[in-house]
This record gives sequence, structure tokens and C-alpha cells, in this order.
Amino acid sequence: MTKVVVFGAYGQLGTDLVRGLRAIRNVDVLSFDREHVDFGNETELRAFLEQKVGEVDFIINCVAMTNTAYCEEHCEEAYKVNALPLAVLGQYCTKVKGRLIYFSTDYVFSGEKRKPYSENDSPRPINIYGTSKLAGEDLVRATCERHFIFRVSSLFGIAGALGKGGNFVETMIAKAQRREKLSVIDDQIMSPTSTIEVARVVCHFIENNLTSFGTYHFAGKGQCSWYEFTKTIMSECKISGPVSRVSWKEYPSVLRRPEYSVLDTTKIAQLVTVPTWEDHLKNYLIAKGHVR
Ligand SMILES: NC(=O)c1ccc[n+]([C@@H]2O[C@H](COP(=O)([O-])OP(=O)(O)OC[C@H]3O[C@@H](n4cnc5c(N)ncnc54)[C@H](OP(=O)(O)O)[C@@H]3O)[C@@H](O)[C@H]2O)c1
Repeated sequence: MTKVVVFGAYGQLGTDLVRGLRAIRNVDVLSFDREHVDFGNETELRAFLEQKVGEVDFIINCVAMTNTAYCEEHCEEAYKVNALPLAVLGQYCTKVKGRLIYFSTDYVFSGEKRKPYSENDSPRPINIYGTSKLAGEDLVRATCERHFIFRVSSLFGIAGALGKGGNFVETMIAKAQRREKLSVIDDQIMSPTSTIEVARVVCHFIENNLTSFGTYHFAGKGQCSWYEFTKTIMSECKISGPVSRVSWKEYPSVLRRPEYSVLDTTKIAQLVTVPTWEDHLKNYLIAKGHVR
């Protein structure tokens, strides 16, 4: 039996991951979230690992403070949740000879490049969320040799991002159904990604006992702006109504986001299939019951 422990199991990625792992034979999944252990408390986390986890083959960390605007104004809290626990998890995995899986983000990049970012590009985050996630990556690399870091982008999942109060797809559908005016940013380019697909990839790595440790980019293949993404959501769901383009410059904010954060998935495509973001969306809409 392969023992897999998932932290952040009630979040949008954690939910799909636990579901996927439970479907694999010979995998024993233990799932935990905030009600079991507070990642912001190092002493509590160390004690929890010793007392409740014990020997383990994989620890998968889906815990994160994902509300980027909140992170910007709560730097210490962001580092306490997104970065420092990775040192504790990494040291623990090394001690018990387990492997560590961490999810990072396209927000580790500045967005100045206009071609997809590969694993070899130097990160240069421009906000606190991105810097805290990059610090998490560094702590994984420093403390646990046998790790996988998956950088993913613009997630939408069945459970909805709890920290953000839903996900972008559901927010747009709900607003359109209420006939609210949709004004969506057209000058930030990214790759929408379904957590069902991320879960499929991680399950593949575990089921096939892959040992090519390191950092991988995974996202829906292709790219679009949030405006283009919204237009596609509306068209797939056959919802009519105006959607207008706006520039991020019209939303004054202290939070800077990369203007371009498309991930190059060439490396991971040698190991798994990488569907287009349109396929990620279609499968999500079917799974969620929006489309038959
Ligand atoms: N969402 C995106 O668009 C996106 C994009 C790129 C990368 N990622 C990365 O992908 C991973 C999964 O993201 P997600 O969208 O699934 O996030 P999510 O839905 O917000 O889930 C995060 C989970 O972490 C838990 N958590 C937060 N603070 C905690 C704490 N102090 N102690 C224990 N648990 C805590 C949350 O519990 P509560 O609900 O109780 O707070 C929640 O269950 C994260 O590493 C994230 O950085 C996400």
C-alpha cells in the first residue's frame, strides 16, 4: 500500500485530488485540512506530523492562502501559510523517506515575457502571494530532495476556491444569469486550468511511481485573456448578454499581477497528455452540470 497524506483536502484542488487518489488501487489516502491542523503554527504542525502522520510515502500540500489581495496586506500571514510550513514538511519527508508534492503558481513570474514561461525561466514575482509561493518552492528544494513542484495557473474546481469565495467560472455564470453587466480584463493573459486535470496528472505520477523529481509546469494548453475566457464560458453555456473588455489599468489597486503568465508545458507533456484550456473548461462544465 502507498500511503498518501493530503493537506488542504477541502480546497478546490484538494477535493479533486482526494477523489482521484481514492480511485487508485493500493493507495491509502489520509486527508486533512484547517480543522485538523493550522499551518500557520509551526509547533502544532510538527507535532501533528509526528503524532497523526507517522511513516508516509507522499505528503501532498494543497494548503495555501490563495487570496492574492489579502496576501498583499498580510505579508507575515502569507509567508506563515504559503512558505514556512514547506520547510517543516520537507524536513519531515526527508526524515521518514517520503516524497513531497507542492503546488506553486504562474505568479512566480513577472509577466514581462511574451512567450510561455518554461521551468528554466528565472522567477521574479511582483506581488506578495507570488513571493511567498516562490519561498515555499525554495524551502521544498532545500529540505527535501525527492520532491515534485507543480506550477499551475488560474485554477477552477468543483469545490470552488474557498479562500476566494468561489471560482471565476461560477462567478461569471452567476452574474450573467442575474443579467449583471460583465466587464472583464482583456490585458492579462494566462492559461485557465481545471483542478480535475491537475489531479489526473498527480495521480498519474503517483500510480506510476515516477521518480523524475523536480519542477513541472502544468496548465491548460494555449492562452487567453480573462475577457476571452469569459466569452468562451458564455458561449459553452449558451448564455447571451453583453461582455465588455476593460484594462486592468482601470482598476487601481496596490496588487500587481503579471500581464502575461502562460506556462510552457513542453516538459510535462513528455509524461502526460496536456489538453487545451478549452477542453479543461468543457469537461469542468459537464462535471458541474452546466452543460450536458
Ligand atoms: N486558485 C488558483 O487560481 C491557483 C493558481 C495557481 C496556483 N494555485 C495553488 O494551487 C494550490 C491549491 O489552490 P486551491 O485553489 O485549491 O486553494 P483553495 O481552494 O483556497 O484551498 C486552500 C486550502 O488551504 C486551507 N488553508 C488555508 N490556510 C490554512 C491554514 N492556516 N491551515 C490549514 N489549512 C489552511 C484552506 O482552508 P480554509 O478554507 O479553511 O481557509 C483550503 O482548504 C495552492 O498551493 C495554490 O497556491 C492556485
